[in-house]
Amino acid sequence: MPGLVVVGAQWGDEGKGKVTDLIAERADVVIRYQGGNNAGHTIVRDDEVYKFHLIPSGILYPGKLCLIGNGVVVDPKVMIEEIAGLHSRGVDTSGLRISANAHVIMPYHLLLDHAGEARLGKLQIGTTRRGIGPCYADKAARLGIRVQDLLDEKILRKKIYTAMEPKRQSLRPYAKDPALDLHTMTEEYRTYGHQLERFIDDTPRVVWEALDRDSVVVFEGAQGALLDIDHGTYPFVTSSNTVAGAACAGAGVGPRQIDDVWGIAKAYTTRVGAGPFPSELDDELGDRIREKGGEYGTTTGRPRRCGWLDLVALKYGARINGLTGLVVTKLDALSGIAELGLAVRYKGPEDAEFEEFPYHQTMVHKARADYEMLPGWEEDIGGARTLEDLPQAARNYLDFISDFVGVPIVLVGVGPGRDQVIWTGADSERYIPAPAAPEAA
Ligand code: GDP
Ligand code: IMO
Ligand code: MG
Repeated sequence: MPGLVVVGAQWGDEGKGKVTDLIAERADVVIRYQGGNNAGHTIVRDDEVYKFHLIPSGILYPGKLCLIGNGVVVDPKVMIEEIAGLHSRGVDTSGLRISANAHVIMPYHLLLDHAGEARLGKLQIGTTRRGIGPCYADKAARLGIRVQDLLDEKILRKKIYTAMEPKRQSLRPYAKDPALDLHTMTEEYRTYGHQLERFIDDTPRVVWEALDRDSVVVFEGAQGALLDIDHGTYPFVTSSNTVAGAACAGAGVGPRQIDDVWGIAKAYTTRVGAGPFPSELDDELGDRIREKGGEYGTTTGRPRRCGWLDLVALKYGARINGLTGLVVTKLDALSGIAELGLAVRYKGPEDAEFEEFPYHQTMVHKARADYEMLPGWEEDIGGARTLEDLPQAARNYLDFISDFVGVPIVLVGVGPGRDQVIWTGADSERYIPAPAAPEAA
C-alpha cells in the first residue's frame, strides 16, 4: 500500500499524463491497466513535449518501474517505435515491463476497425482506428494473441490462423493485402517478440511486491468515465472499462489494494469522436476554448469538440469511479471569458428535467444542458501556485465544482508545465513531489 488510481473523469484527454508524471516521482511503480495506443498522454518537462500512447507516464524518471498491465491491448510495432523514440531522446527505459498476458493488436484488427467505421458511415463512432475494438472483441471471444505467444513461433502461427478463420468474410476485401499473409505475419510478429522479450514479465507480481514494501503504486487510466464500455455513452465509447474498478482486473490486484482514486477533469469539457455531448458549444466560444486550450487530439490530431463544464456528467463520473479526490486541469484556458457556464442539470423533450445523468441513451442524446452562470476572470493565472494566488472568481468557480460533485479538489492545473499546478492541501501529502511540497512538509 498505497495504491492510487488516476482516471479520466470526462471523455478523455483531461491531463492524466501530466498528473501521472507529477505523482510518479514518489511512486515505485506506474502501471497502465486498460486501453491501448488509442490513448495519447502528454507530458511537458522544461519545454520539452513527450507524447505517450502505450508507455506509462512515469518513464521519464530513470529506472522507474513502468508496467503495461494484462488489461492493456498492445500494438507491438507502436511499442517498439515508442521505446526507440525515447532512446533517441536519451530516456532510460530499463524499468519498462510488459505483461505476458496482455493482448496483441494484429494487422487484421486495424483493418477491421477501418472497415467497421466505413460500414457504419454516418453512424460511425469516430474511433482512433488503432484496432482497439476488434482486439478486445477477440480477447472476449478467446481468439486473442497474447504477448507471450510472440515468443513461440508454432503457437503464434496456429493462433493467428485460428483467429483469422472466422474473419474470412469480413477480411475478403483485404484478401490480397500482404500484411494478412499467415507466413509473413508470423515472421513479423515473431520478430517483435524477439525485440520485446527482455521487457516481458509477470507484472501482477511486480505490483504485489511494491505494495508489500509499502511503496506507492500509481494505476494510470486511459480514456475517461464517459467512454467506459458499460457506463459511458454506449455505443459511442471505447472497448474497455475505463473506470477505476478496471485497475484491479487490468493490473491483477484486489479492490482493497486501492487507497485513493483521483478523477482528472478539465475546467471545461471536450470530446473527440462522435456521440452525445449535452454541454457542447458549437459556436465561436467553443472555437475560442479549443484554441486557448490547444484542443487537438494527441493521437489523431483531430480538433476536439469543446463545451462548458458538464457537472451532471462529472458527478456521475465521480460515482462510477468512487473518487476520493478531484484534479481540475486547464483552469488557465478559461481566463478572459466574462461568464462561465456550468451544466447543473439536463433538459429533455417535453420539459423533462434530469438532475442525474440519464441511463437511457435516447435521453442522453436529446439532453441539453441547463447552466448556472458564474463570473469569469481576466487575469492570466499561469503563474499561480497557491489558491490565494488565484482571482476570487476562479476560487469561487473551483468551490462550486467541488461542492456540486461532492469530492475535494486535490490539485489544480494552471498550465501544461510540470510546475504549473496548485496543491490545495486536501489529503494528498504522500503523493506530492518533493520540490513542490508545502513549506510545512
Ligand atoms: P490525457 O490523455 O488525459 O493525458 O491528456 P492529453 O495529454 O491528451 O491532453 C491534455 C493536454 O493538456 C496536453 O497537451 C497537456 O500538456 C495539457 N495540459 C495538462 N494540464 C494542463 C493545464 O493545467 N493547463 C494547460 N493549459 N494545459 C494542460
Ligand atoms: P486518452 O487516454 C479521448 C475515443 C475515440 C472514439 C472512441 C472509441 O488520451 O484520454 P477507440 O479507438 O477507443 O475504439 O475509439 O473513444 N477515444 C478517446 N478520446 N481520449 C482518449 O484517450 C481516447 N481513446 C479513445 O475518439 O470516440
Ligand atoms: Mg489524451
